[in-house]
Amino acid sequence: MTSKAHKKFLREDCYIAGEWRGGAEKLAVTNPANGDTIGHVPDFGRKEAKEAITAAAKVFPEWRAKTADERSKFCRSFYEALMDNQDALGELLTLEQGKPLAEAKGEIAYGAAFFKWFAEEAVRVYGDVIPSPWADKRIVVTKEPVGVVCSITPWNFPNAMIARKAAAALAAGCPIICKPASQTPYSALAMGVIADEIGLPKGVFSVITGEAAPIGDEFCENPAVAKITFTGSTGVGKMLAAKAMSNMKRVSMELGGNAPLIIFDDADLDRAVEGAIACKFRNAGQTCVCANRILVQSGVYDAFAEKFAKRVKELKVGDGLESGVEQGPLIEEKAVEKVEQHISDAVSKGAKVAAGGDRHKLGGTFFEPTVLTGVTPEMVIAKDETFGPVAPLFKFDSEEEAIQMANDTEFGLASYFYTNDLGRAWRVMEALQYGMVAVNEGILSTPVAPFGGVKDSGVGREGSKYGLEDYINVKYGLFGGLGK
Ligand code: SIN
Repeated sequence: MTSKAHKKFLREDCYIAGEWRGGAEKLAVTNPANGDTIGHVPDFGRKEAKEAITAAAKVFPEWRAKTADERSKFCRSFYEALMDNQDALGELLTLEQGKPLAEAKGEIAYGAAFFKWFAEEAVRVYGDVIPSPWADKRIVVTKEPVGVVCSITPWNFPNAMIARKAAAALAAGCPIICKPASQTPYSALAMGVIADEIGLPKGVFSVITGEAAPIGDEFCENPAVAKITFTGSTGVGKMLAAKAMSNMKRVSMELGGNAPLIIFDDADLDRAVEGAIACKFRNAGQTCVCANRILVQSGVYDAFAEKFAKRVKELKVGDGLESGVEQGPLIEEKAVEKVEQHISDAVSKGAKVAAGGDRHKLGGTFFEPTVLTGVTPEMVIAKDETFGPVAPLFKFDSEEEAIQMANDTEFGLASYFYTNDLGRAWRVMEALQYGMVAVNEGILSTPVAPFGGVKDSGVGREGSKYGLEDYINVKYGLFGGLGK
């Protein structure tokens, strides 16, 4: 049941330069659980993006001149406002994105935690004094905010993906303009409501909705923009990065993944089953870090497959607002079609369906949580991110083979493995070519650790002390003529 609490945050205008602005052209936003139209948001373009950038550039000197403590307090207030409204914001998020309410509220807390973390980090941006090679000169290193930041974020985490960019930017002293995905703009606009309420200076935090291409072009080409930060597909990320780099802007790119989750013979199988469920079926498999390939050693393959399929069949599918639901709908029809293609390709090449396998009887974009056995590296699912609730089980014999299979991808975001052998834990952790490795855990995201990938999964880190550095320029100061 939907309460009315979220209504306060459901804004149909954009928050640009500290003002709420409507547009003549509108984009419809639908609830993926039932296809109903929730409302409309402006279809803005280059002109409005430019206005937001101009306002951000204007306020930048004032924002960077605030003391670290003042910026920290704003971040803290942002955190508190998000947490004070966790239920309403969670409900809004489920309405537009579809994930179960408990997960949506969890995402609000996850997003809020970035503001809390960066409120604490804002006051710890230290410089350096470097021992000078000259008796009459001194060398210092100072840290400065990069300048105006523009972000483009996806629909799978409509709050947290903005929060982990915006919190770091604000803490570092950078104004930020947020362009959310058109499927899920309301959670972003709700953050505009909060920015307004906590009294952020006009232009420090703007939210603009509309088609990604013209807004992205303005972001990449406007000389007042210092940095582009993007979370989304590798294809779009490469295009954006190329445009941004041709104008010498800083970039952070959180791109696609093809995460392996490896289960060795010596693993605690019950723990591995629970970890694989959490990892694979969180947000209906629509995360960049969810296991896309589950590699199971031959000695435990059948036992794991049986336990895992049994648990997967128990997952409750439904409208995320209904109590007890563990998997909501997929975001749109295209996503369901991709899931179907991956399953039919695998089955045509010999895989077997151990659970699910079809559209859910609820219709729309609901899909059955699915387990495939007998999956091999020749199948499309081995190479391509499914972004849906399908768990393919591959078989391997040795540690070397598991590492080779896990690394056999152009992606390098998250990876997971289960073992009780300490030596193996270190060896495999070091051998996996990924930005993130979780041992005996299926969920690794936290604001205090560096989130990010290698290879085609992107550049830069978000969260943690490293996340702040992505919004900072290092300046070398040489002081000469000291008279010695
Ligand atoms: C993502 O899927 O891009 C982010 C997931 C997370 O932060 O855990």
